[in-house]
Amino acid sequence: MPTTAFLGTGFYVPERVVSNQELSLSMDTSDDWIVERTGIKERRWVSEDDTGTGMALSASVDALEQAGMEADQVDAIVLATLSPDHFFPGTGVFLQRELGLVGVPALDIRTQCTGFLYGLSVADAWIKSGQYRTVLLVGVEIQSTGIDVTTRGRDMAVLFGDGAGAAVLGTTEEENRGVLSTHLHADGRHAEILWCDAASSARHPRITADDIKAGRHYPTMVGKEVFKHAVTRMPEVVREALSANGLTTEDVDLLIPHQANLRISEMVRRRLGLPEERVYNNIDRYGNTTAATIPIALAEAVDQGRLKQGDLLALTAFGSGLTWGSALVRW
Ligand code: ACO
Repeated sequence: MPTTAFLGTGFYVPERVVSNQELSLSMDTSDDWIVERTGIKERRWVSEDDTGTGMALSASVDALEQAGMEADQVDAIVLATLSPDHFFPGTGVFLQRELGLVGVPALDIRTQCTGFLYGLSVADAWIKSGQYRTVLLVGVEIQSTGIDVTTRGRDMAVLFGDGAGAAVLGTTEEENRGVLSTHLHADGRHAEILWCDAASSARHPRITADDIKAGRHYPTMVGKEVFKHAVTRMPEVVREALSANGLTTEDVDLLIPHQANLRISEMVRRRLGLPEERVYNNIDRYGNTTAATIPIALAEAVDQGRLKQGDLLALTAFGSGLTWGSALVRW
């Protein structure tokens, strides 16, 4: 059976830097509060000309370049986002159109912060089965245009950023390289602790002005509950992956956790007993970019030479759904 390898990675973040100080102009918050509770110092937010498709395209071009491949070598696209450019169709087909890949399948994944790992699992299965040889996997998010940037929405608004990350996945002939496993989970019993109620078809007969006035079209979160689940599920699913492969935390060279909140990543790190230098964090600069956090962090880690051949890379994510998962990759 072929093995799935990361052939190239890339990312794109909007140029506009939004500091905590800037946020404090539109809501009752402060740099101290945000840094202490989340570790975020700044994030990137889109300007008028940015779109999810455009950011996904830039990240994809970057990843293809690193892979030394042309777009027409891509056999399938998998794109994870909770913030598509349009309610439908998904952003995947717009990316496909921009890449000039008429006829190539484009699958959108909607598992929020865990989207990149669900996508990786699908792409890995396609590649291993021989259905597709090269898959472009993208995580892209524009959160800034959908959040409540007043004091009412401050618990959410300070967390999120915009950006895109991409990976070109393909087969490798090299022994002892590639995706070892993916482990995915969900628990819909807690769907409402982190959700967007009324950007929906479930309000009959339609969304009303009262819904909008009450802010039900904005995402909401029970922060403390999300925190508890996140710091339990991510270590648990990393251990599940390690155990399935006969490995231990000692074997992990680099862990890239979903960048939800620095305090969450720190607790995940401590619960796994990993030293700081073996966990990658960039949330201080980008905030939480949801489905894009892992591919952005991975692309940065690659650019910084943090992964060398043979290293064991662990990825883990947790998000709305609830959904969570992990992947182990021999680099
Ligand atoms: N600035 C200033 N004050 C704020 C802000 C803000 N941005 N947001 C909330 N507060 C206030 C609250 O209103 C509350 O005030 P009160 O005591 O007068 O009622 C006070 O700060 C404390 O609020 P708590 O919710 O108790 O603060 P907590 O210490 O729990 O921190 C936080 C909030 C950071 C959201 C925390 O719950 C958390 O980290 N949760 C995890 C959620 C998360 O990271 N989600 C990421 C998205 S989901 C994902 O990616 C998995």
